Amino acid sequence: MRNIIILGAQWGDEGKGKIVDVFSEKFDIVARYQGGHNAGHTVFIGDRKFVLKLIPSGILRPGKQAVIGNGLVIDPAALVAEMDSLEKAGLPVSGNLFISNRAHVLFPAHRMMEKMSEARPGRVSIGTTSRGIGPCYEDKTARRGIRVAELLDPETFRAKYDAVMEEKIAIAKALDISEELDLAGVYREYERIAERIRPMVCDTAVLLNDAIRQGKSVLFEGAQGTMLDIDHGTYPFVTSSSASAGGACTGTGVAPTRISAVIGVSKAYITRVGGGPFPTEVLDGAGDRIRQRGNEFGSVTGRPRRCGWFDIPLLRYTAAINGFDSLVVTKLDVLDEFDNIPVCVAYRSGKKEITAIPPTVAEMQQLEPVYECLPGWKVSTFGISSYEQLPAAAREYLEFLENRTGVEVGCISTGPERNQTIVKPGSRFQDLVR
Ligand code: GDP
Ligand code: IMO
Ligand code: MG
Repeated sequence: MRNIIILGAQWGDEGKGKIVDVFSEKFDIVARYQGGHNAGHTVFIGDRKFVLKLIPSGILRPGKQAVIGNGLVIDPAALVAEMDSLEKAGLPVSGNLFISNRAHVLFPAHRMMEKMSEARPGRVSIGTTSRGIGPCYEDKTARRGIRVAELLDPETFRAKYDAVMEEKIAIAKALDISEELDLAGVYREYERIAERIRPMVCDTAVLLNDAIRQGKSVLFEGAQGTMLDIDHGTYPFVTSSSASAGGACTGTGVAPTRISAVIGVSKAYITRVGGGPFPTEVLDGAGDRIRQRGNEFGSVTGRPRRCGWFDIPLLRYTAAINGFDSLVVTKLDVLDEFDNIPVCVAYRSGKKEITAIPPTVAEMQQLEPVYECLPGWKVSTFGISSYEQLPAAAREYLEFLENRTGVEVGCISTGPERNQTIVKPGSRFQDLVR
């Protein structure tokens, strides 16, 4: 049995898409378990660039099965647009993509509700991706959401659509929202899309569990990152789903006893998009240098990503939540030109030094990072694919992260392309992706 989860160890955009793409070669199925088209997973194959939002990165490997699990919220228009762009690029989707009949359906009304809640006076704006993700999960949790199986059943869809939209219109009226919703137009569009995706819809929990029973291997692909998890992240500055390892079980219907390992993906530094606390954020020139060198601009919204230094207490926290067996450190090359590289080893909170992540935004915002400074390597690591070829100072940097986080660094990424990847010889990681 070899079913592993690969997920983000920070605030998203850690390079999960690239890593899943590289190692999906060794698995039979790649399954996404949460989120929606708020995700943006960028994968380069040669000079061809793909940004996957809803469809698992495994779709880029012909012959692999890609599963959209029950834990996702699906904007049907975004899904077919992504399917079309992949097909146009010569990558077959139909026949390889399987969509859970229990995933929830996202509507333009969800985007409208989100716009309203982000802009309302007195409400803290989260800085969301404006895709309607939160309101769609709200409907799911409130038990009025519409699932894919219901979208495919014309009678149920009609009845539920009318009921859900009636409620949205009442809220919009009460809050004085002037935006018009083309309810009939959306309904017709969704009916059309339902027929297009019908052949791909199935009980993906049955599909996955049958496959596992037959000895096939599954790679679970996380979206967002642990610090954006609805429970374990920097609430309320989080996304509305379970991005951490537990989400892989609830979001696919595969039991924890069927999962063999969890791999975290982290940058060699750290970034965040949107609002919320960020103890190691660097607001001066070094932050801009990281942003420029790392091209740290959102792949979904194009927003500049906030940049900062590696945060050990945060990584220890996400390692505990997820039970990381190994860590992938990406974008090492981005740090190539720095003379010194600060790493946060603890926080000062008032007069105390702490290493725990506090539960409230107010407490988190008061944290002052305590840094240890490591020497930079000042030579290019771009594209290096063997551990021995890394400069000594870069190896020392990685070993420092490994020792202080307590998680092995089993894989290092030195560029966006598949072959710009190091698997550390003798690591547990090497065993897991063999
Ligand atoms: P994801 O959401 O976790 O899949 O990450 P994103 O795709 O949003 O952001 C990661 C970005 O970094 C993408 O543009 C990748 O092509 C790029 N990338 C990934 N790994 C590396 C690396 O090791 N070095 C460099 N320079 N870029 C990388
Ligand atoms: P990937 O999978 C980085 C952030 C948004 C915002 C918060 C809530 O590419 O790593 P949402 O639209 O989800 O309600 O926004 O979460 N966010 C991400 N940040 N990477 C992502 O995905 C993100 N998905 C959501 O910026 O702060
Ligand atoms: Mg991303």
